[in-house]
Amino acid sequence: MQISPSLLSADFANLEAELKRIANADWAHVDVMDAHFVPNLTLGLPVVEALLRVSPVPIDAHLMIDDPDRWAPGYAEAGCQSVTFHIEAARDPRTLARTLRAAGARAAMALKPGTAFAPYEDLLPELDMVLVMTVEPGFGGQSFMTDQLPKVREVRDAVKRHGGEIWVQVDGGVSGPTIEQCAEAGADVFVAGSAVYGAEDAAAAVEELRALVRGHHH
Ligand code: DX5
Ligand code: ZN
Repeated sequence: MQISPSLLSADFANLEAELKRIANADWAHVDVMDAHFVPNLTLGLPVVEALLRVSPVPIDAHLMIDDPDRWAPGYAEAGCQSVTFHIEAARDPRTLARTLRAAGARAAMALKPGTAFAPYEDLLPELDMVLVMTVEPGFGGQSFMTDQLPKVREVRDAVKRHGGEIWVQVDGGVSGPTIEQCAEAGADVFVAGSAVYGAEDAAAAVEELRALVRGHHH
């Protein structure tokens, strides 16, 4: 059970200090948005490279961008230990996942709320993680979509059948009131933006979320 706080809700003028606030987390989740795949713009590779130099925890890059086949490998080559591309944007996901792994990263596929998992189940051998979005990607602070829980369960069941160490991540509206449902449905990596960075004590918020899912096993 791992917690990956999203920097989207952090103070962008003080990202180094904001990373140090979550040194007890498993990952730092960095949301890359290009104002094309999603209607918002955040940051790109130069900023991620700077974060990699100062982060106390490995970086979990979530690429909400067009043409990940072209741009995602750069994040792996820069040293991101997990790189997630959106399946809706990928032209050749199998080759892309292999390229990410060859560059030393964990390769992950993300699904928007309207995207079914079943057509992509055959990609599991190429993947280290599947991200089930529990909000429409683009913005922090949105409400958790309970209707995505059956998809989390479906992915977990497929991972069990397939075997191997493939993580199931949830992202969007994950907080004290919703994290346990995610764990029960089969998630084991939990992204939380506003629930962590909106708290006075971000490290304590990470521990509280961790305590809520401790004891769940898949
Ligand atoms: C949304 C991003 C999320 C976002 C989550 O498109 O992918 O990572 O930061 O924020 P919360 O936890 O506030 O919903
Ligand atoms: Zn994200």
